[in-house]
Amino acid sequence: ENINPTIIVIFGGTGDLNSRKLGPALYNLYLEGFMPEKFELIGTARSNLTDANYCDFLEDGIKNFSRKGKALKKDWQKFTKHVSYTPADIKDPESLITLKNKIEKIQEEFGPDTQVIYYLAVAPKFFSAIADSLHKYGLAGDKDHTRIVIEKPFGHDLESAQELNQMLKQHFRERQIYRIDHYLGKEAVQNIMAFRFANSLFEPLWNRNYIEHVQISVSESIGVEDRGGYYDGAGALRDMIQNHLLQLLCIIAMEPPTSFDANEIRDRKVDALKSIRKFTNDSVRKNAVRGQYTDGWINGVEVPGYRSEKDVNPESNTETYAAIKFNIDNWRWQGVPFYLRTGKRMQQSSSIITIQFKDVPHQIFQNESVETWQQNRLIISIQPEMSIRLQVQAKRPGLKMVLNPVDMIFDYKGAKHTDTPEAYETLLLDVMTGDQTLFMRVDQVEYAWELLMPILNHWENKTSISFPNYTSGSWGPEEAEALIAKNGFFWYSLP
Ligand code: BG6
Repeated sequence: ENINPTIIVIFGGTGDLNSRKLGPALYNLYLEGFMPEKFELIGTARSNLTDANYCDFLEDGIKNFSRKGKALKKDWQKFTKHVSYTPADIKDPESLITLKNKIEKIQEEFGPDTQVIYYLAVAPKFFSAIADSLHKYGLAGDKDHTRIVIEKPFGHDLESAQELNQMLKQHFRERQIYRIDHYLGKEAVQNIMAFRFANSLFEPLWNRNYIEHVQISVSESIGVEDRGGYYDGAGALRDMIQNHLLQLLCIIAMEPPTSFDANEIRDRKVDALKSIRKFTNDSVRKNAVRGQYTDGWINGVEVPGYRSEKDVNPESNTETYAAIKFNIDNWRWQGVPFYLRTGKRMQQSSSIITIQFKDVPHQIFQNESVETWQQNRLIISIQPEMSIRLQVQAKRPGLKMVLNPVDMIFDYKGAKHTDTPEAYETLLLDVMTGDQTLFMRVDQVEYAWELLMPILNHWENKTSISFPNYTSGSWGPEEAEALIAKNGFFWYSLP
């Protein structure tokens, strides 16, 4: 692809995200020949590092976290010719002017088409100040050649998200703003679009006539790790449902777009969000379950309860698990519940989407020879396994007419797992080429918050909950089993 000369400035350049994700992603893009010929990566943070220090920092991250960590030394040497570090502190105008001068000097060398990408890999409390400074010191004056990338969390609730959007709007056009939801960059998630809209086979079935219910389950066995400070003020609903899980819901529920154009696709996703039934206090009580983990065992290792984690309030009522039943009020989905659940310290790390089809209208086989429960199921597994399984009934070979379920599996063989680009590679490449399809538009973010506000408010006001209520290493609280069992279903997980 023909990408203009590019300068990427990473704020939070010495942070965890840069080390684990951005550095490795940019290096892999470089190794695979996707970086433009002229590019410069400028790390910036408050610490005083030399260029060499910074390269060492990146190299460590790449060795530990990159799928191509063992690349040849000479490639690394070549890559580092494009890397430098400039300390910058938003409270120190001098430092920003130095950064500006540096960028301008590179622009002169690279030519007039040079684009500048500011990546805000920092805590959200710095978003505003950085965006303001970029404007104030003239680093973001050229609207056609400047982009800004923002990491989640995008706001803490509807109001703060709106404020953030307002603030960004003062200095940037929407087409310059790239709000990251890294789930959208995952290979298996992108494939759902291909699966739904490049095949004629499934679309006729993709509606209330044939689908009974949908489950979206993202379970993690990890706890809050060293992010207690952030997580305790957020919780599972804000951390996962507001963004990743609702985005998955949109991809499953959206109407077919008329083209693969970024705004067309995002319009259809917004339509889906708008069709979700609004919650009331009463429906929150009936349809939303929260949980918090207590100590327990995971894979033979004893782990502490949430309230004993580092930087977590010992009396915290923050949810580490959430399960919610959504209803979608439109022609396609009326009466088809969408169950979403996510939690930390669960038995397995696994992200799967299950589409449960309706039963056959009339069962001709003897009861004992059929699994009486729901025979046809499509399971889209995003991670760790990347696969799509279609479960159908088949006759077990033998003299008797005995049925049992079998899976037709599409499992990405041939594309070795380690060869699959990571989400951040896809997303960074899209920022460089100017493709916003996989990024959150302003209205998507705000509709998602609006939808969840009644749940957040209800939970915040009703503090008389008996947390912790699920054991680390389990599948979550019993109430979540009850939530789905009310309709005669159960949470599905891969064997
Ligand atoms: C992040 C959340 O957005 O996604 C984390 O803040 C979570 O809490 C992570 O662990 C999960 O991402 P992945 O790619 O590991 O499924």
